[in-house]
Amino acid sequence: MSSGAARSDTGRNPQRNPLRDPLDRRLPRIAPPCGLVLFGVTGDLSRKKVMPAIYDLANRGLLPPGFSLTGFARRDWADQDFAQVVHDSVEEHARTPFREEVWDQLAEGFRFVSGDFSDDAAFERLRATIEELDETRGTGGNHAFYLAIPPGAFGDVVGQLREHGLTESGAGAWRRVVVEKPFGHDLASARKLNTTLDEVFSDGSIFRIDHYLGKETVQNILALRFANTMFEPIWNANYVDHVQITMAEDVGIGGRAGYYDGIGAARDVIQNHLLQLMSLVAMEEPTSFEAAALRIEKQKLLSSIRLPDDLAATTARGQYAAGWAGGEKVTGFLQEDGIAPKSATETFAAITLDVDNRRWAGVPFYLRTGKRLGRRVTEVAIVFKRPPHHFFNPDATEELTQNVLVIRVQPDEGMTVRFGSKVPGTTMEIRDVTMDFAYGSTFTEASPEAYERLILDVLLGDPPLFPRHEEVELSWRILDPILDFWAAQDQKGKRPEAYDSGSWGPASADAMLARDGRVWRRP
Ligand code: BG6
Repeated sequence: MSSGAARSDTGRNPQRNPLRDPLDRRLPRIAPPCGLVLFGVTGDLSRKKVMPAIYDLANRGLLPPGFSLTGFARRDWADQDFAQVVHDSVEEHARTPFREEVWDQLAEGFRFVSGDFSDDAAFERLRATIEELDETRGTGGNHAFYLAIPPGAFGDVVGQLREHGLTESGAGAWRRVVVEKPFGHDLASARKLNTTLDEVFSDGSIFRIDHYLGKETVQNILALRFANTMFEPIWNANYVDHVQITMAEDVGIGGRAGYYDGIGAARDVIQNHLLQLMSLVAMEEPTSFEAAALRIEKQKLLSSIRLPDDLAATTARGQYAAGWAGGEKVTGFLQEDGIAPKSATETFAAITLDVDNRRWAGVPFYLRTGKRLGRRVTEVAIVFKRPPHHFFNPDATEELTQNVLVIRVQPDEGMTVRFGSKVPGTTMEIRDVTMDFAYGSTFTEASPEAYERLILDVLLGDPPLFPRHEEVELSWRILDPILDFWAAQDQKGKRPEAYDSGSWGPASADAMLARDGRVWRRP
């Protein structure tokens, strides 16, 4: 049988050349000998996400036997106290079942260093700890420093790491730094932060976490678009009417007033998660799944984004008011503990973006996010144009709306296509129907948590899922004028509009779409 065409008839991918690409990427990727140093061990991020993800990775057999986790904080703890904190966090938040033998092996690699960020002696102790781990656990000089701390402290910590020789690895070994958003407050502060990191770590050693990129369904956007033939031909302004990207949460700000007040929905979510989602949905096909190739396309897309002229009509913001959520009475944002009574921080933000390129000219992208909305749901909806012509009687299509392809990021991960179909019967009546793909019923294996994937990628030094500083700066360039506009509105006494908890946001968000003759989806 002659190769190419015949093999493709069997449904296999004829393009894989095992000689050129001997690495089968379906094999489990296991981290090499290494350790992780966690700064900010007492924070929510560490307890709810990082520690459980490390346990889940160990449980899945993806960490090396000598893996070590070192906590660094001001508390006066012994190694065992730190182990207890990790234990509690794993019991409460891990995705996979607790197994004594996995835990025992993992816990042997726990260390704790007590001190604050200005304490030279503490960083010397950290250095000694790392040396001890290399000796006793075989971590091979490979260490990642995870800064689960406010960005204001990044400079102090990376400076100390450099001063105490912790950023230098021996030959063949590596040192990496992991940082979490917020990557700045605006473009200027993001640039400063990037400079701070760049002065100490090389570009390839800095891993910026945007946990949305670690979600299976977000990675699936690239698979959907570029591993299939049927979507790309219609993925453009000829067929797409507009795109809606929604990240709705039913919860309020919880205990995060200190972080959230002065930050707000646009900085917290649009600048990072939603603009990254939009990049993946709208960018051109990269030349490969290598980080450099992906970044080129994402940066190109982000550089093509333009704001409409009239920001008053094309943006909306709001604050949740007291009301009911999930059958319980809830307080309004301004009454939350720790929030300034006159705070103008938005808990809902909606913006309109245009993309100045041939593929998307004239197709608005509507992005919205909010707390205390009707439901927790993140989705991307590609809304298609109406057919240019119908030969059916107008009554036959009265119930027919626009075709939509919805990528359900969470919960209920999957995809839905909505299209028109004839209603059974003797008359011609066409109505919307849906076709569904659900991860839950298609695959037997549950999706890992985003942090599992991302921490593993850090340890493997695999960068495609981490935004680079150019992307961060381009995102601020898009958002800054909107934030300035809202700040100017505040000065004029035009505050964010109140919306009922459990609703779908302020009326101004609906007006923003109504002006374009469109409506938001109610997922
Ligand atoms: C974080 C935001 O990045 O994402 C939070 O800071 C938000 O405000 C969270 O609640 C939502 O993440 P997820 O994965 O639950 O959608």
